Amino acid sequence: MPHVIIACSASVAAIKIPDIVSQLINKNIDVTLVATEASKHFVDLEKIKNDFKINVVTNEHEWSAWKYRGDPVLHIDLSKSADLLVLAPLSANTLAKISNGICDNLLTCIVRAWSVSKPVLFCPAMNTNMWNHPITERQINTLISWGYCLIPPIVKTLMCGDHGIGAMAEVESIVLQIFKSLNVDSS
Ligand SMILES: Cc1cc2nc3c(=O)[nH]c(=O)nc-3n(C[C@H](O)[C@H](O)[C@H](O)COP(=O)(O)O)c2cc1C
Repeated sequence: MPHVIIACSASVAAIKIPDIVSQLINKNIDVTLVATEASKHFVDLEKIKNDFKINVVTNEHEWSAWKYRGDPVLHIDLSKSADLLVLAPLSANTLAKISNGICDNLLTCIVRAWSVSKPVLFCPAMNTNMWNHPITERQINTLISWGYCLIPPIVKTLMCGDHGIGAMAEVESIVLQIFKSLNVDSS
């Protein structure tokens, strides 16, 4: 059974996580959901855990699993055990951190410890002005230069009321790209 990590940061698009997870588990894909602290404002992690019976982890789990030398190190174990890493949604903040090698929470430590020989999909989601800021393109290009696959944002009326580019790609496009990366039949 393929194992996918969905790494969720704090964009409002995180409300789409249950849709993504449900389509993956319907194909017998093993899903671990990793959530940043701020993303908890957008997703009900307990509900996802109960509804889908998947592994849901946050910073708290990283530190409660490790007390002494020899104890498991969650970000290392997860980065070794999974086949595919999906950064969805990817906030401007977490994009900036990843592109600079910063690893100050469970999600960014998994990315930092992820072998560059394994696939990564990333789905940025942010306000139009944030997306259009020149720093964004530089950071996106950095991730692309490492072989990460961009699932580009789309034009939409955003939650803030602005209309423009920056919304996370449609769930269908993300799920199809996941199936393709894992050689899972999408029909
Ligand atoms: C209501 C609300 C919606 C937000 N939506 C987004 C968003 O869509 N994209 C984004 O990059 N940041 C968004 N932010 C800002 C991030 O949540 C903020 O930068 C946060 O520190 C990101 O944390 P993380 O990257 O650790 O998850 C939003 C903030 C609020 C209060």
